[in-house]
Amino acid sequence: MKQIKMPVEPFRIKVVEPIRRTSKREREEALRKAGLNIFQIPAEKVFIDLLTDSGTSAMSDNQWSGMMIGDESYAGAKNFFNLEEAVRAVFGYRHVIPTHQGRAAERILFEALVKKGDYVPNNIHFDTTRANIEVRGARAVNLVDDKAYDPDSDYPFKGNMDIEKLDRFIRAKGAAKIPLVLMTITNNSGGGQPVSVENVEAVGKICRNNKIPFFFDACRFAENAFFVKKRDKEYARADVAGIARKIFSFGDGATMSAKKDALVNIGGFMTLNDDDLARRLKDLLIISEGFPTYGGLAGRDLEAVARGLVEVLDEDYLEHRVSQTAYLAGLLEEAGVPFFKPVGGHAVYILADRFLPHIPRGQYPGWALTVALYREAGIRAVEIGGVMFGHKKKDSPGREEVFPKLEMVRLAIPRRVYTVSHLAYVADALARVYRQREKIRGLKIIRQASHLRHFTAEFEEI
Ligand code: F0G
Repeated sequence: MKQIKMPVEPFRIKVVEPIRRTSKREREEALRKAGLNIFQIPAEKVFIDLLTDSGTSAMSDNQWSGMMIGDESYAGAKNFFNLEEAVRAVFGYRHVIPTHQGRAAERILFEALVKKGDYVPNNIHFDTTRANIEVRGARAVNLVDDKAYDPDSDYPFKGNMDIEKLDRFIRAKGAAKIPLVLMTITNNSGGGQPVSVENVEAVGKICRNNKIPFFFDACRFAENAFFVKKRDKEYARADVAGIARKIFSFGDGATMSAKKDALVNIGGFMTLNDDDLARRLKDLLIISEGFPTYGGLAGRDLEAVARGLVEVLDEDYLEHRVSQTAYLAGLLEEAGVPFFKPVGGHAVYILADRFLPHIPRGQYPGWALTVALYREAGIRAVEIGGVMFGHKKKDSPGREEVFPKLEMVRLAIPRRVYTVSHLAYVADALARVYRQREKIRGLKIIRQASHLRHFTAEFEEI
């Protein structure tokens, strides 16, 4: 991979938020108090925070001024109608139902559609999607193309669903047991990889033939559409908004966490065509989120989402956005740091087991890398590996641990927040950690307060 030249930022900075560098001693102290769990470290003690790209965007002056015209009426606030218009323009579905964030949309949609014993296919389910399906006694099934698990293949659409697997799965289980098929764009849990238009069309066709509703998990739809433009010759001259519209035209609806590609700090929605389903969703919404024209958000939040959805489709913005991950990855490649290829839209995923081959999976190399990176440079990244997804095998006598296929550390880049020099700082720090990698030690869990151990576990170095 060759080093790319960063396009110049298509924005200038009007407001700044100071960030403070900490001393190594301070960081050691913070790690000790946190039980070597970076989720437990106060954000003020983090210099560059790459924990997530969710809810961490910098809003524009246009979005902030939109917040001043927030209409806080309980019912029928004007900002709801602005949101409805913006979502319809992007997705093309009739109904728009706001929620406070993505997982609320998932919970409500699945409550209306999914029963015990059902199956819900996806390319790869995000954690909250899986949890909201499994809590209903149904099974969340990943049917992504096998190339998704090969970190060295440079296949351009590694988020694609395996069409044959989907077809076989529907025939094996029967359409009556499959209340909907999902497609996550881009595929976050598989390295932030895009899905091709052709693949979406094929999935849509299978779903239609089997009368199964087809929904998108659309958090990063604009990044996905931009990748289509860059990687599929057929769309090289198409505009990104048109590509997104085409993608959505093959489905029946979507859930979206607006905290990603709507460039806001909080918000989400469901959007769909089915009138009867929309009515049921609105009834469920009232129980936990609120009246259907605000759905757990303030009027001002709805306005920020409406404006963010327009801004995110600006192609200069998107060019700069996806170049950030490519730029960081280029610097890492020069330093020999192993990462998942091709690089995704919102994050670079480090291959932690290749970075730390001396640490066995049972001693959590990915987690050890997040600790080392914070200790070295005050950078916070997130492990997507054995701690987050490992579990004890139920029926084996030794209760040995089963680990996910890939052991990765995600460096997620917040939108419009960090500059080229921040990224260079991150690459430098990782290169330094890589040069001293033999000194990094494996970990064991000494306490955990819940099964969500990545949030609660405390660790000790071995
Ligand atoms: N779907 C995908 C693909 C996601 O990446 C997320 C959140 C959600 C649904 C849930 O949305 O947080 O608004 O409730 N992903 C964040 C992340 C948390 O760090 O990747 P939410």
